[in-house]
Amino acid sequence: TSYTLASLMSFMYFLECLKLPVLFIFSLNAIVLLNFLYYTFMSAPKINVAKQAISYISNKLTPSMVIGIGTGSTVNYFIEELASYSHLFQGAVSSSDASSEILESKGIHVYDLNDVNGIEFYIDGADEVDSENNLIKGGGAAHTREKIVASAARDFICIVDKSKMVQTLGEFPLPIEVIPQARSLVARRIVSLGGTPELRVGVKTDQGNEILDVKNLNLSSPKEMESKLNSIAGVVDNGIFAFQRPSVVLVSEV
Ligand code: A5P
Repeated sequence: TSYTLASLMSFMYFLECLKLPVLFIFSLNAIVLLNFLYYTFMSAPKINVAKQAISYISNKLTPSMVIGIGTGSTVNYFIEELASYSHLFQGAVSSSDASSEILESKGIHVYDLNDVNGIEFYIDGADEVDSENNLIKGGGAAHTREKIVASAARDFICIVDKSKMVQTLGEFPLPIEVIPQARSLVARRIVSLGGTPELRVGVKTDQGNEILDVKNLNLSSPKEMESKLNSIAGVVDNGIFAFQRPSVVLVSEV
């Protein structure tokens, strides 16, 4: 009996020793699986549309051309693809510090908008696109500079995955960049327009301002709301792109 008991105990000890390595291997597998799922389901559409944008512009690039670059994960894939064409154009104007850093790391020269005469293409993502190509942007807090660079370009090409296509704008909370001192004043004005503003905590824009994310606004007349919001003192710019709509919207095929 004592022999059986001793064997049982050493077997249990053996199992106990196995527990940690097994747990470790299990969590490693879980991480690999999560990565696989992320790259398959999240990145594939963005890579697909980034490649479509490359096909759209690549045979139109010239050595003196400056192109405008937006901000966000879809644009990051586009920059990745664009890197191998960097010898075919002069450089880029960027819509954010984050994109500038990535462009420079790929050897693409970044120009100040003040130093260029014109931008041929502006390529950027969006948070929502309606049936008339009106957009909501600003999920990455960069919409103010994005709108400026888009307005300087001859051709605004918007690149999105299918999930961004909507019938009417407004499901995605509308980002509004505000001067910090005017935050509460602006928030009260937004409430009087029917909106529910929420401060994006811990976020400062590249210009040092704050972002209010606004739900419940009626965006059925996007131009009207874009103007109304921008006429509130303290608002720098809001994320509706109705006056500055893209000329082309490329949607992922996967
Ligand atoms: C940045 O402020 C935004 O306007 C982005 O263009 C928008 O949020 C799309 O980003 P993703 O490509 O990451 O979805």
